[in-house]
Amino acid sequence: MSISIAILAAGKGTRMKSSLPKVLHKISGKPMIYHIIKESQKVSDDITLILGHQFDLVKEEILKDFKDIKIHKQDLQNYPGTGGALKGVEFKGEKVLILNGDMPLITKSSLEKLINSNAPIAMSIFNLKNPAGYGRVIIKDNRVEEIVEEKDANEEIKRVKSVNAGVYIIKKELLDEFIPKLSNNNAQKEYYLTDIIKMAREKGVEIEPIEVDEKEFMGVNSKYHLSQADEIMQERIKKELMESGVIMINPKTSYIEIEAKIKGESTIESGVVVTNGSLIENSHIKANSVIEESTIINSSIGPMAHIRPKSNIANSHIGNFVEVKKSKLDGVKAGHLSYLGDSEIESGTNIGAGVITCNYDGKNKYKTKIGKDVFVGSDSQLVAPVTIEDESIIAAGSTITEDVPKGALAISRVKQKIIDNFFYRFFNRKR
Ligand code: UD1
Ligand code: MG
Repeated sequence: MSISIAILAAGKGTRMKSSLPKVLHKISGKPMIYHIIKESQKVSDDITLILGHQFDLVKEEILKDFKDIKIHKQDLQNYPGTGGALKGVEFKGEKVLILNGDMPLITKSSLEKLINSNAPIAMSIFNLKNPAGYGRVIIKDNRVEEIVEEKDANEEIKRVKSVNAGVYIIKKELLDEFIPKLSNNNAQKEYYLTDIIKMAREKGVEIEPIEVDEKEFMGVNSKYHLSQADEIMQERIKKELMESGVIMINPKTSYIEIEAKIKGESTIESGVVVTNGSLIENSHIKANSVIEESTIINSSIGPMAHIRPKSNIANSHIGNFVEVKKSKLDGVKAGHLSYLGDSEIESGTNIGAGVITCNYDGKNKYKTKIGKDVFVGSDSQLVAPVTIEDESIIAAGSTITEDVPKGALAISRVKQKIIDNFFYRFFNRKR
């Protein structure tokens, strides 16, 4: 049976206490809504997103990752609520799978039981010790009778532990029949999608309750939930990396964003952050280093190094307290305490401790080019734009403002003076 998917994401998410719409809050470096769209695409190519609150902003963010997704604007004024969300939406599939934008942990496999149900309507439920906040599912003889929202429930119903996880699969013709019949006669004055269940029941339509894993169907309603969901997502990301051959030391302490790629025989020590857009291959990232949107191949980085966006580092050693930004390094050693920004450094070159590329004059950024087998002495400043040709030497402590030709020594520092016995005169002491 062909399936269309609706992802409800028009709500405001009041409980997030944020001006950012709920579904744009990030989990492992990508908006919550990104995760559910990715998984939905594994199930169907007919996906409609229902947006409303801060429509333009949410739409713009989604289009960055998903070019040709269908977007429907909910009439929140006249038809608020999860049922109102589906008013006027047309689906191609024989069945419609309804998901929520705030469920970032759902996977294709966790949806399988719903998708494979033969019932005209199947809905997800789980049992909670503390069901507060969820709609309660009234089940008799393994048949769903109705869903009662917390705000409409009496004390007896509030004690029901079976709750509505909020994911349904329903025959399109039933949806088309029931959606126009929904009313907003309830505590929240909203059009509840959940009222469809009662209508279906009264018509004798079978509704299959399908028990699902709370960890996968968790709805994110607060920033605490956000952190909990992110922890689960991190666990998944890291498990997958380790199963693919990456060594992770003390993995709980590292944060790897969802689109970061780590390949080959790589080791990630504790406390490492790797952001989206990064590729690490056959490399060793030592403790507490941060790799942002950069490529690292056959290299060792850190401990405590900061590789900022658009860096490309191959066959190199980057040591502690070195910051690299938008630079291309191949076969380079920069062992200690350097800033290398907007630079291009070729193989065999050694960057001494404390070397700084002065890439910014307060108005513009300039490039530093360093050729092959160059020895840059410690504590030198390279004032860009500047080119240092192959096989040259920069004396320690130099401030380089002019290009250095091939094979040369560049030295720019005050000649050392020796004043004998100055110490004893100055402190009035005997030698
Ligand atoms: C809903 C269910 C409840 C279930 C819970 C599971 C209803 C009436 N209640 O309640 O039974 O236990 O989910 O998490 O459906 N949305 C829209 N348009 C709207 C309102 C909401 O698109 O007008 C979207 C939201 O963006 C969100 C989803 O629908 O992604 C659920 O909305 P939310 O307000 O979180 O529903 P709950 O009150 O949690
Ligand atoms: Mg609500």
